[in-house]
Amino acid sequence: MRLIKSPSLINKELKKRRIKGQGIGFVPTMGALHEGHLSLIRQARRDNDIVVVSIFVNPKQFGPKEDLKKYPRPLSKDLKLCRKEGVDFVFFPKNEDIYPGGFSTYVNVEGLDKFLCAKSRPGHFRGVTTIVAKLLNIIAPDVLYLGQKDIQQAVILQRMVKDLNIPVKVKVMPIVRSKDGLALSSRNAYLNHKERRDALVLSQALKLAVFFINNGASDAKRIILRMRQLIEKRQSVRIDYVEIVDPVTLKPLKKVAGSFLIVLAVWVGKTRLIDNFLRK
Ligand code: PAJ
Repeated sequence: MRLIKSPSLINKELKKRRIKGQGIGFVPTMGALHEGHLSLIRQARRDNDIVVVSIFVNPKQFGPKEDLKKYPRPLSKDLKLCRKEGVDFVFFPKNEDIYPGGFSTYVNVEGLDKFLCAKSRPGHFRGVTTIVAKLLNIIAPDVLYLGQKDIQQAVILQRMVKDLNIPVKVKVMPIVRSKDGLALSSRNAYLNHKERRDALVLSQALKLAVFFINNGASDAKRIILRMRQLIEKRQSVRIDYVEIVDPVTLKPLKKVAGSFLIVLAVWVGKTRLIDNFLRK
């Protein structure tokens, strides 16, 4: 496994592989790797000759009051995990090589960045689309691996790839959860014992909604109300949003039938957690 910091060097190394006809799978991350990330890496390992993982805590996707400084950065543990999973290249760029002085070009996916998480995290998705567009230019992979855990991010990035004719296939992998149902996230590390327990309401609320829908409920407003009532029973939590939307346009649905996406974001103490359920 090679650890490369320079964008031009990794680009050159991967070009050599491409000339040999080797296929490249790419998993972008911000590090603090857990089983969720590893599921993407394992799929990339199964599908491709070469697996590239990037680790970059992208400052442009954090708001001024968000957790950029305290975001976990356990680099040597991450590298060990990558090595164990058979990763070929870890790209670990320096901030100044990604955003040199004078940097002023951004990628915006319009419309989709107005809903859901975008409301409470202005500028977040512009940061995500800009960094992923840059990483795709540097790595030029055949397949890009994303997690359904961040479903709005995946929808927006798929839109970007299509709209900009970026020659990459996108694979979205299922949410990896701990045994009790909590979706794995690097931010779970911020939760204390009680918050960790309260955080279970996210997956419980999704389960409740799916139970209602499977038993014939279709009125989105009423389903959302029942989810809210369940969540609000916990004192340490505060709802950011609970919505049932179209999986492609992310616009709210009135009637739940056919394909739908239930999404929620909840503050547990000072930690904002997200989760979702997708029926295709
Ligand atoms: P990060 O939060 O590190 O996540 C990297 C990838 O892992 C994302 O595609 C995310 O959806 C996926 N992932 C995280 N938790 C998961 C889980 N429990 N199950 C399945 N997949 C999971 O998302 C980012 O980084 C950044 O925004 C990035 C795309 C790297 C751009 O900076």
